[in-house]
Amino acid sequence: MADLTVKLGKLKFINPVLPAAGPNVMRLEQMLEAVERGAGGIVTKTVSREPAVYPKPCISKGPCDGLLNCETWSDRPWRSYIDDYVKVKETGVPLICSIGYSPEDVAELGKALEAEVGPDVVEFSTHYVGKTLDPLKRVAEALRGSVSCPVWMKVSPSTPNIPEMAKVMSDYVDGFVAVNSVGPALDFDIDKPKPRLGTEDGHGWLSGPAITGVALYAVYQISHSQDKPVVGVGGIRTGEDAVKFIMAGASLVGICSEAIRRGTGIYGKIASEISDWMDRKGYGSLDDIRGLYAPVEAGDSR
Ligand SMILES: Cc1cc2nc3c(=O)[nH]c(=O)nc-3n(C[C@H](O)[C@H](O)[C@H](O)COP(=O)(O)O)c2cc1C
Repeated sequence: MADLTVKLGKLKFINPVLPAAGPNVMRLEQMLEAVERGAGGIVTKTVSREPAVYPKPCISKGPCDGLLNCETWSDRPWRSYIDDYVKVKETGVPLICSIGYSPEDVAELGKALEAEVGPDVVEFSTHYVGKTLDPLKRVAEALRGSVSCPVWMKVSPSTPNIPEMAKVMSDYVDGFVAVNSVGPALDFDIDKPKPRLGTEDGHGWLSGPAITGVALYAVYQISHSQDKPVVGVGGIRTGEDAVKFIMAGASLVGICSEAIRRGTGIYGKIASEISDWMDRKGYGSLDDIRGLYAPVEAGDSR
């Protein structure tokens, strides 16, 4: 049977399939069930110093089998998550806590998490941080100064120059998670041309299979412009989708929309699909397929 373990420094994942931050990891029961049903680690819903207030409905169907959402970050106070994180940590799988957004937010949250939980990784969301490098550096520096564990950066797909960003930010972070949802975006029903989401004009952020190509290219660009590991996220529904992200350079993969649709069993299911595919194709370990996708070189007969 194929070896699905992934080692990143001192961290060991039994398989490369994680939840991505979202409503699928908002409650303790969801996180524990994800572990029980085979997730390789747990990424939590993003929290910030102030709970989010977002319009409802905050999730609807979107174009091309995608979802639209306006859920921003957690509407629960971050303190209410501490006991949940501790219980997830006790299961022994790597715990990746997602936080945001300003340097002050991440410094305070990072310090508290370090003291009260001891996460394996802290991931910061850049969704509301801005597109230029300076604010990203300031957030990363503030977080780095407040935790001793690795720091991952969740990449916004609207980042103007992804290879340049990755190269510069690789001095500030220990890994990248690519990508967040895409947008702003709109969809509606022509029989009832009204907003599906609670935002005033119905706009939201697109995820699911509709964004796979965008995510895949971001993963390829990030993993080819620097050496830190990349978690591939965007539209993954099957083991073969996950293999594609790993071939583009990802070390791990994250799943949100498909978990919203099909529940917490999806992580373990995708892990076993990866294993089956590797067995069928004769690959022994993930190292054998990581980064296999390569551009055409001069002299190639393709
Ligand atoms: C309803 C919803 C809520 C989300 N909330 C967060 C969040 O709190 N923090 C974050 O970094 N990403 C959030 N995301 C983005 C996902 O983690 C993921 O990056 C994106 O949806 C693409 O992956 P997918 O196609 O598997 O859903 C959210 C996505 C959805 C659909």
